[in-house]
Amino acid sequence: MAENLLAQNLFSLRGKVALVTGGGTGLGKMISKAFIKNGAKVYIASRNKKNLQEAAIEMNSLGGPGECFPITADITIKEECEKIANKISERENGKLDILINNSGMAIVNPLKEIPEKSWNKVYKLNVISVYFMTIACLPLLEKASNAPEDPSRVIIIGSVAGEIEGDIKGIDIANRTSLVYNTSKAAVNSLARNLAVYLTPCGVNINVIAPGVIPSPINAKFLNKKLVIEEIPQGRLGNEEDIAGTALYFASRAGAWVSGAIFRVDGGILLRGKELGREYAIATKSKL
Ligand SMILES: NC(=O)c1ccc[n+]([C@@H]2O[C@H](COP(=O)([O-])OP(=O)(O)OC[C@H]3O[C@@H](n4cnc5c(N)ncnc54)[C@H](OP(=O)(O)O)[C@@H]3O)[C@@H](O)[C@H]2O)c1
Repeated sequence: MAENLLAQNLFSLRGKVALVTGGGTGLGKMISKAFIKNGAKVYIASRNKKNLQEAAIEMNSLGGPGECFPITADITIKEECEKIANKISERENGKLDILINNSGMAIVNPLKEIPEKSWNKVYKLNVISVYFMTIACLPLLEKASNAPEDPSRVIIIGSVAGEIEGDIKGIDIANRTSLVYNTSKAAVNSLARNLAVYLTPCGVNINVIAPGVIPSPINAKFLNKKLVIEEIPQGRLGNEEDIAGTALYFASRAGAWVSGAIFRVDGGILLRGKELGREYAIATKSKL
């Protein structure tokens, strides 16, 4: 009895079809692996064909129960977003249950010399492609939806950078700023909340996962782990389980009644009063 409340059922993705952009590296790969382990068929899409194929082979060797298929595409080109959606539609009877808009890029520039090229490149991938990818997949998501009980899902991988003014200590960017990246991630928060107004009544829920710092190719060059950890009240960087657990919640029956949320998974890096908290912990020898 009450089998519906077992974690293995509430968080299951058995029979679901997912598309993860940038699913061949970093956070996208962590999420794809978790989806495959929990039963989903996962399409991973990005530009680097070789890397995608290798990632798919690796993930298909995990023993299922789900499986992985690579699609090579540049999602900054609207027609390529449509190509991805058409391929999935042909193979999956016009249906897609979960879209993870994960592909993204970071850039750092001197504050007074940010070239137009930086603005255009970052906004094209981090914001505009999220819109076109979502719209291209919308008919598939609507067809797959079991709303209101279990709607289709769009999940955007935003960032705590979308709520930050300035740069995180320990991201070593030598007198440059990630202002362009930060503002692009603030923009996708707004994009998600706006889309949620229109898509939720159509049976497609949309949410943002805003991660803190998780070692991956995007930050490999900039990350001073020791300094960043000092900024995180919980005292550690994020990892595969942290991002995978959050994505599973938003994609499965467990998160079916959430839309328009911006959800931080960051070890508390944006919490105010953390210095006071640390002083208190030292004074009382408590770990709080
Ligand atoms: N790691 C962190 O600490 C962190 C924190 C907060 C948010 N995030 C966000 O997490 C997401 C994933 O980043 P990551 O950390 O996993 O770094 P990553 O490994 O560098 O991931 C970026 C992905 O985007 C894909 N991509 C880049 N340009 C593309 C294009 N034109 N078309 C299609 N795909 C493209 C890349 O694949 P190809 O090169 O094959 O195209 C790659 O798989 C990003 O949105 C990032 O902003 C990361």
